[in-house]
Amino acid sequence: MSADISAAGQDRQACFEARIAPAPELVVVVPVFNERENVTKVVEALDQVLSGVSWEVIFVDDDSEDGTAAVVRELASRDSRVRLLHRVGRRGLSSACIEGIMASTAPYCAVMDGDLQHDPRLLPEMLEILSKGESEIVIGSRYMQGGGTGDWDSRRVGISRLASGMSRLVLHASLTDPMSGFFMVTREAFLERVHRLSGIGFKILLDLFASSEKPLEYRELPYEFRSRQAGKSKLDSRAGWEYFMLLADKLIGHVVPVRFIAFSLVGGVGVGVHMAVLWVLLDGLKMDFPLAQTGATLVAMVGNFTINNLLTYRDRRLRGLAWWKGLFSFTVACSVGALANIGIASYLYVQQGVGWVLSAVAGILLGAVWNYAVTSVYTWNKPRAD
Ligand code: GDD
Ligand code: MN
Repeated sequence: MSADISAAGQDRQACFEARIAPAPELVVVVPVFNERENVTKVVEALDQVLSGVSWEVIFVDDDSEDGTAAVVRELASRDSRVRLLHRVGRRGLSSACIEGIMASTAPYCAVMDGDLQHDPRLLPEMLEILSKGESEIVIGSRYMQGGGTGDWDSRRVGISRLASGMSRLVLHASLTDPMSGFFMVTREAFLERVHRLSGIGFKILLDLFASSEKPLEYRELPYEFRSRQAGKSKLDSRAGWEYFMLLADKLIGHVVPVRFIAFSLVGGVGVGVHMAVLWVLLDGLKMDFPLAQTGATLVAMVGNFTINNLLTYRDRRLRGLAWWKGLFSFTVACSVGALANIGIASYLYVQQGVGWVLSAVAGILLGAVWNYAVTSVYTWNKPRAD
């Protein structure tokens, strides 16, 4: 009887052991946004180039409207190497890559775009270099001998080169392609730096290098950037702004929060708007100064709300009804600042005889500090998708 029980126990143990499969050696993190047409091809390509490697792929989808997540789910139901990280209410290429890497335990982590523009045939060589301990990160480069930018027009190549040049400000290495979105890193090296990452915008590789106290040991491999198979690029003018924010964060983020820098820059544009409107109202329409300053303040306020909503708080962007509610709370929250602004400016101009420009600037400065403090709490208080 007891022998039977232990035999059954051994059986169970054997069964259990048979069911245990070690974690994959390599994770390929693929950020996707509206890439429904491409994800199946990505899995097929990985299956082809990674034979003999134990791997998994994590698609990080930011709730694409085209149903990308559903296609990945369907693939995953048939193939346990395919995983999905479906983020709701979030956007961002860098943060998608970071969270995809953190969702896996594989010791080697690759990041590759989901549109087949990066050549997956580089992956086995990248893995070999890392597993031999020859470097901590291997980067696919378009700008070294043997690489290329495919069908990019000269404008896009120019922008990419300009951005690469600017990156030297924060980069502690002379990479040929610091803008590359295609690389493989050891988990150890990644974990050492993850707490310092900004996670802003498109440039995860640059972020990683700029966040390193100890320079990363790197190798580069050339590849030809291929044409997009389906869908379209998500890199737009806002990516430029985000790139600027990433650089600013790396340069002075430890002293001043990057959002405050952005808010101040937008405020600077607002001063221009304010002055233009004030000039028209005073000079053109011959209004009294207090009334003109009130009008200019209102226009600048709506303008600043709109731009901050698009840029500074892009990750918390308000839309539709929420936009109107946001405008309302922005206006209400700033009304104290605006009153102080008008009060101070009018006092200086009317009572003290200070010039109209200086009076207005003093009012604006006082209002700006209020605006930032109060709206960061009341208007853009929670993360939202766009
Ligand atoms: N999850 C998520 N969230 N994925 C995103 C987002 C986002 O907000 N934005 C873009 N993606 C995905 C796209 O679906 C695609 O798979 C990948 O990120 C790259 O986006 P593209 O829109 O195709 O960018 P690109 O081809 O213009 O530029 C890419 O390649 C360059 C060269 O390596 C980017 O990776 C650049 O950073 C890189 O310089
Ligand atoms: Mn692309």
